Amino acid sequence: MKVALGVTGGIAAYKAAELVRLLQDRGIRVQVVMTRAAQEFVRPLTFAALSGEKVITDLFGAGAEEPNIDSAVEHIAVAQAIDALVVAPATADVIAKLAHGEANDFLTTLFLATTAPVVIAPAMNVNMWDNAATQANIQTLKARGVVIVEPDSGYLACGMVGAGRLAANETIVLAVLKALKAEQDLAGETVLVTAGPTREPIDPVRYIGNRSSGKMGYALAEAALRRGAKVILVSGPTSLKPPSSADVIQVQTAQQMRDAVMTHFDGATIVIKAAAVADFTVRTAANEKIKRKGPMTLELEPTTDILAELGAKKGSRIVVGFAAETTDVLANARKKLESKSLDAIVLNDVSQPGIGFDSERNAVTILTHAGAETVPETSKWEVAHRVLDAVLKVKLERRRLQQSR
Ligand code: PMT
Repeated sequence: MKVALGVTGGIAAYKAAELVRLLQDRGIRVQVVMTRAAQEFVRPLTFAALSGEKVITDLFGAGAEEPNIDSAVEHIAVAQAIDALVVAPATADVIAKLAHGEANDFLTTLFLATTAPVVIAPAMNVNMWDNAATQANIQTLKARGVVIVEPDSGYLACGMVGAGRLAANETIVLAVLKALKAEQDLAGETVLVTAGPTREPIDPVRYIGNRSSGKMGYALAEAALRRGAKVILVSGPTSLKPPSSADVIQVQTAQQMRDAVMTHFDGATIVIKAAAVADFTVRTAANEKIKRKGPMTLELEPTTDILAELGAKKGSRIVVGFAAETTDVLANARKKLESKSLDAIVLNDVSQPGIGFDSERNAVTILTHAGAETVPETSKWEVAHRVLDAVLKVKLERRRLQQSR
């Protein structure tokens, strides 16, 4: 999903930087559009760095010697590509322009050109907010279906006290999610996700690892956040940027992952173990770098099976495992579902090319005690949502059974 975030020229413009992050944490891509006045408060570079996208500052392409056809029609392309337009903070000036259909810069033109839902979060001096002209403009926009996130009351940058302070970013995010019809069906849940590989040290410079990139687990964490859950992400070493709204615990070894998971298990209502945990660790890692001389033997011992431990003490929690298999895939996955007392297991046939380890894509079969559902090759983001759908189905079924007793 993608939203355009229009930032206009008020002192609250700096707060839009955090808004970019919060929207991204919900898995939403953000295209920032700044008015000329907004650029007096915050540099476009700040938003470009945060959003990872070029910031649009001009109707005809900023800095271009000659306006070209691409920049001249960019507002139409953006208007068609977005799922929502958010204006935060919105000044009295831009609210007036939007209410009267003016189209003399990128943001106002985009507003007229898009058919996506629009969310506006005003911020201004209390008297400007209370002014009959502003209130009439707000009513006009509301009557046309624009969602207004009412400003908060309190101390304002101008020194006055009253309504006009930009609403809390979390409130704006909720309004955006509602406009996007992004269901908050995991609100109230705490989802503990494990992701990535573990590393078992051989000596201070070498380790036993695996090909997991963490992408599947991070997609699950982001999807759960987007659906309203609190997320605890226990991550092995990856190069991925964790979602900033998650509580992130970085670990290296299987033992550290076990300890982190156990520490947070009590507070979790749903546990999803996408991590590729080492099955063996080196019995005694060397304290110094091992010199290369002759053949050598490493003595390995099994690690704790974290998932089996969780299954045994899960109580009312829903526990979901992953199974990376190459042979007898269905039978092996089902065996893990039963033997580890899981509610669901996500079978990854990692003998298939182009999916699974270190790929943007995946194809899985989600096994529960009620049956199996195949998710053909798609993005890990989509797989994550299908896994969460399955979790909710299990929860619903459990509730139905309890009520029928
Ligand atoms: O990280 P990516 O590059 O995105 O790749 C995704 C993935 C392929 C790693 C992921 O989709 C996946 O299949 N993860 C599970 C990998 C794995 O370790 O499978 P397994 O069949 O060996 O283990 C079964 C389950 O037991 C897993 O949930 C695992 O987290 C858990 N386990 C394993 C060993 C151990 N000591 N403790 C555990 O809890």
